Amino acid sequence: MCGPIRGLLLALVVEFGTVVAFVSIPRLTWELGEVELMQFHEPGISNYSELLLNKYQDILYVGAQEAIFALNALNISQKQLEVHWKASDETKADCIEKGRSKEKECFNYVRVLQHLTYDTLYVCGTNAFKPTCDYVNKKSFKFLWSEQDGRGKCPFNPSHTYTSVMVDGELYAGTTYNFLGSEFIISRTYFSSHLRTESDIPWLHEPNFVHADVIRKTPSGYKSDENKVYFFFNEVSVEYDFFFQLKIPRIARVCVDDQGGQKILQNKWTSFLKAKLLCSQPDLGLIFNILKDAFVLRHPRSKEPVIYALFTPQLNNVGLSAVCTYALSTVEAVFSRGKYLQKFCVDSYPKWVIYHGEVPTPRPGMCINSETRAANYNSSLDLPDKTLLFVRDHPLIEESVTPIGNRPILVTKDVNYTQIVVDRTRALDKNFYDVMFIGTARGTLHKAVQLEKGMHIIEETQLFRNSEPVQNLLLSSKKGSKFVYASSNSGVVQVPLAFCRKHSSCEECVLARDPYCIWSPFKAACVAFSEALNCTR
Ligand SMILES: *[C@@H]1O[C@H](CO)[C@@H](O)[C@H](O)[C@H]1NC(C)=O
Ligand SMILES: *[C@@H]1O[C@H](CO)[C@@H](O)[C@H](O)[C@H]1NC(C)=O
Repeated sequence: MCGPIRGLLLALVVEFGTVVAFVSIPRLTWELGEVELMQFHEPGISNYSELLLNKYQDILYVGAQEAIFALNALNISQKQLEVHWKASDETKADCIEKGRSKEKECFNYVRVLQHLTYDTLYVCGTNAFKPTCDYVNKKSFKFLWSEQDGRGKCPFNPSHTYTSVMVDGELYAGTTYNFLGSEFIISRTYFSSHLRTESDIPWLHEPNFVHADVIRKTPSGYKSDENKVYFFFNEVSVEYDFFFQLKIPRIARVCVDDQGGQKILQNKWTSFLKAKLLCSQPDLGLIFNILKDAFVLRHPRSKEPVIYALFTPQLNNVGLSAVCTYALSTVEAVFSRGKYLQKFCVDSYPKWVIYHGEVPTPRPGMCINSETRAANYNSSLDLPDKTLLFVRDHPLIEESVTPIGNRPILVTKDVNYTQIVVDRTRALDKNFYDVMFIGTARGTLHKAVQLEKGMHIIEETQLFRNSEPVQNLLLSSKKGSKFVYASSNSGVVQVPLAFCRKHSSCEECVLARDPYCIWSPFKAACVAFSEALNCTR
């Protein structure tokens, strides 16, 4: 255990001034007003935190402070519907009495905004420190007023991190669980049935939740045993001793089919396992251990999903950021074959070491699949006590999930990144390119693409008037109407994936290196690749 610790220490105190130059300067910069962006902002409403797309009806749902909006996804400046959702005077008074800020905290901040059914949204809000969930009819845009306790789905405190994903009508959430924000949970709720993380033996150590997504088993595509939900977060290290609180970026996963245990782990996950996400560049002494955001890129043409993750170092006074990518098969191999860490106490001080003993079967934390069924375990409720006790005490895998190529694909300096989405597109040369759209802490969007000669930041676009962090990014990948939607405290912006027409000559068009653009001799203009295809057909 001492080896890695010394390595980490060296890396964290490295002299950043001597580090080589990174790709940081975008080739082109669009100021506000130079390119056409659609915007949405409602007077008196702030904190546009949640974005949700209905791609069949071209509607963008937006959750803000005490309000939810339905916008035309093709032009978000057109508001279609809105509903206000205020904390009651009584709840507010309670919140203020408990010492919370009347101006900042004692409001209802929307934190969960998900499709429940074809015509119902499921929403949760902090509701002045009394988290509450409800249903909204998509047509009438009215609440069904069947309020539910939002505990375990939505934080009490609007400044606490949270994440959620809806899978087949069940809400998976990672959030704080109490008023003080000292308890944490990864939960699944479906009407009355609940599943959650164990808290007596903590499975989570002061986590900051970043992202969650489901990866499904599909008959034709990526083969996995079962559908799984992945959570991305940072937590305080338990496996390294350190002289300050060392944060570790984690990926955790649970199986969608998990029913909990019968006696042991009743109403708890039987499939919760977590591992460290590694993102470092050892030759430069750089360790990126704070996860900022993650994005799962799925594409019909690739054999498995790829996870894009955005990082910074823990001590980051110069604004270093990195993007690492992970193959889902690497993640799966760590969970299905990795060694477990075991806690034991030295002088009543906990230490985590590799477990070398015998591991029960079925393997603790695995999903119910054909293999377990063959052994007559048809549901997690059937799992033997030995397996359940083991997974309860060993939630952490020793192996780290290593990135594709063993290093970041992008390292930048002097810019703090906040959010990432990725689009895979086919260019003129028939190759596929992964185009990264990365939001910054100063309200801009970077567009980066991997070309033969390495990573290029081809564009920076100013999104917001003020220098404020991009809080959320959403990619609409619908054919013919692809956009990135970005939100901040002050509003929402709709950005086309490329500004081809801004490149006025053939030379500029080519130099832009934008895989979405192509020079059309017929039109004597730089046009979108898709548009050029249409006109030559
Ligand atoms: C809401 O937005 C304001 C700025 O308009 C910001 O100061 C505040 O921190 C935000 N609150 C939350 C909970 O995000
Ligand atoms: C990035 O964030 C860090 C920590 O918040 C801050 O100290 C630094 O000045 C920021 N850098 C830039 C370039 O904005």
